[in-house]
Amino acid sequence: MRPTPMTDARRTVYIETYGCQMNVSDSELMLGTLTAAGYEQAEGPEGADVILVNTCAIREHAETRVIGRLGELKRHMKAGTIMGVTGCMAQRLGPRLLDQARHVSLVIGPDGYRALPDLIDGARNGQRSAVTDFDLEEHYQDVLPIRGDRVKAWIPVQRGCDYRCTYCIVPTTRGPERSRDLGDVVREVRATAEQGITEVILLGQTVNSYRTGGHDFADLLRAVGAVDGIKRLRFTSPHPNDFSDRVIAAMAGVPAVCEHVHLPMQSGSSRTLKRMLRRYTREEYFDCVARLRAAIPGLALTTDVIVGFPGETDDEFAETISAVEAIGFEDAFTFKFSAREGTPATRMPTELTVPDEVASARLDQLITTVRGGSRVRNLGRLGERHEVLVERTAKRGGHLMARTRDFKTVLIPADGYAPGDYLTVELTGTTGSTFTGAPVSSRAALPMAG
Ligand code: SAH
Ligand code: SF4
Ligand code: F3S
Repeated sequence: MRPTPMTDARRTVYIETYGCQMNVSDSELMLGTLTAAGYEQAEGPEGADVILVNTCAIREHAETRVIGRLGELKRHMKAGTIMGVTGCMAQRLGPRLLDQARHVSLVIGPDGYRALPDLIDGARNGQRSAVTDFDLEEHYQDVLPIRGDRVKAWIPVQRGCDYRCTYCIVPTTRGPERSRDLGDVVREVRATAEQGITEVILLGQTVNSYRTGGHDFADLLRAVGAVDGIKRLRFTSPHPNDFSDRVIAAMAGVPAVCEHVHLPMQSGSSRTLKRMLRRYTREEYFDCVARLRAAIPGLALTTDVIVGFPGETDDEFAETISAVEAIGFEDAFTFKFSAREGTPATRMPTELTVPDEVASARLDQLITTVRGGSRVRNLGRLGERHEVLVERTAKRGGHLMARTRDFKTVLIPADGYAPGDYLTVELTGTTGSTFTGAPVSSRAALPMAG
């Protein structure tokens, strides 16, 4: 660790984050690295000494947004401001980004953040660099993250991905899968709990394939769930093929593990799934859902679905709709297929391309199906009582946003409650997707969760 500069005011860094929670977590690590090197966090880009844009490459739209944003941010640069691009798009484009955006002097992929302070110093001396080597040992285990959330903590337990879904850029941008040492994860969770955080979310691209030093994901759930003060334990995203009986038994047996699983399905058609190289059939996905539901009463499921994957016929799409209806997802992230340079899907015959109008119509139909199903179920839940954790103040004045263990959003009157509080509420209304709730017990009378 380098000493804090004793001379003039501390240098400031502004980080803007796009993409998934892995990126949010990486931004917390970057901020940790830079804080240790004497930097201070700036709340906005204006006048910051360093501006970092932590990017996503998952769909073309994600990248065009960042390119636009880089242009806008240029206006906030003062003389001497260093502009850096990090994350998945940085990894994917490397030096090409330096050519494309002359005001960018640093391009750093996900395994290169340790070198940030030195690279920034180099940039100050006029060097422009692209750092895109993978480091299979890198977990930033000694870096103290500076967290943006005071109620829950995102804990990376695995980096990279060894699956090769044919549409996906992540194996290219994040490199091979590696799991972080179990003792190290538990140490971080313990330190987090000591700061008063009661909910942790374990992160990995296929998080339940976690395996290291003879430990699997079941061991990890048991170890993290046993940490004093941890009342809610979640994880994202699991892969259906990695839900071993051991993992499901640990989920059922560890009280902190919440009754919600985000289980990306991608498609309800075995033929589409095969072209996607998801490595499961429709039946195997249904079987996974059934095993989870049998073990965990009241389990809520959410998912990711792609429409318009090359070769997706009307019949295949109909199977996705029927799967969504049969399973009854509480919510879904729905995407139109986006061709990513270098992925196997881009080498499929062009006649398999699904026209954009068709993909758009399928997306609309899918969203209507998901919303319709969850609306009916949510209406049926009015009057239920749930423990909620208050996450933050709501946009609606005088209200707080809280969450049930099964991941429903509940707006409650502020009434002296604060982020971090647990209370029991009765669900009194629903928009179809989110709820309003009324407290039914005082904080003092609360049963302890977990
Ligand atoms: N590792 C996670 C997913 C990470 S990406 C998993 O396997 O579940 C998040 C979601 O983006 C994916 O689940 C998928 O639905 C979507 N996605 C990924 N690549 C895409 C592409 N090329 N076009 C459209 N959606 C894509
Ligand atoms: Fe991408 Fe598939 Fe890996 Fe998820 S499992 S990150 S979709 S390659
Ligand atoms: Fe996440 Fe986007 Fe990278 S979804 S892993 S930030 S490509």
